[in-house]
Amino acid sequence: MAELVVAFFGDIVGGPGRRAFAHGAQVARERHGAHIVIVNAENSRHGSGLSRDGYDLIRRAGADALTLGDHCFREKQAIALLNDAAHPVSRPANLAQGAPGKRFVRIDPAQREGAPPSGPLYVLTVLGRLFMPIPSDDPFAAVDREISAIPEANAMVIVEAHAEASSEKQAIAWHCAQRWPKRVVAVVGTHTHVQTADARVLEQCVGAVTDIGMCGPHRSIIGREVHDVLRFMTTQGPGALEVATEDARACGALLRIDPASRRCLHIETLNIPVS
Ligand SMILES: [Fe+2]
Ligand SMILES: [Fe+2]
Repeated sequence: MAELVVAFFGDIVGGPGRRAFAHGAQVARERHGAHIVIVNAENSRHGSGLSRDGYDLIRRAGADALTLGDHCFREKQAIALLNDAAHPVSRPANLAQGAPGKRFVRIDPAQREGAPPSGPLYVLTVLGRLFMPIPSDDPFAAVDREISAIPEANAMVIVEAHAEASSEKQAIAWHCAQRWPKRVVAVVGTHTHVQTADARVLEQCVGAVTDIGMCGPHRSIIGREVHDVLRFMTTQGPGALEVATEDARACGALLRIDPASRRCLHIETLNIPVS
């Protein structure tokens, strides 16, 4: 059975995260045989948003598709990228109706070296509604709406559940496993920047993990300098929360997919230090 191998990396945090992702993408391709690399880039510009330069760097580092979460519009330069069909970058699908930008990225695996014959792979992100800083529409309904509109019968979908609550991310995964088997091949959680140890395949079809973690500095509090966050949380005093620098790692998930049956065969998490 010819497997399609996809690496999905979590939120890139600042410069350390960009460098960690570049290393992780290389390891995913060379050591794990990844044909396609996807990454969430919402914190890549100094910890918040996506810039044009950052986009170019991340693409050159090997990303086939970039996703964004609740920080999607923090940097205005991202909007031009989101509005241009030539750039494979998407924003969450369950924002306001008038929000700019693409709601999914469509990847053609046939154009990737060494990939087996396969239908197109769609990547879409939904924001959770629990404990999230910006309001969004029903993520379950958004998943159903976007998947229903996909024209190709042989298409596969990876859903990124960008959310704070573990329960909500697991619910989105189970919703996809029960409603969209052999269509959704994986549901990967992001946003908390902390990797969870629950990677599994639901209903023999859908690879799922509650959070794949971040590409960023791990001697930190979710990517920010420890002393800055402690100052803020213990005194509520002012001051920037700088991006930390040490122990950069690329965290994500590796998916082995059978494109013929559109099932995830195996999912494992990646936690790759920058040596
Ligand atoms: Fe993030
Ligand atoms: Fe986020």
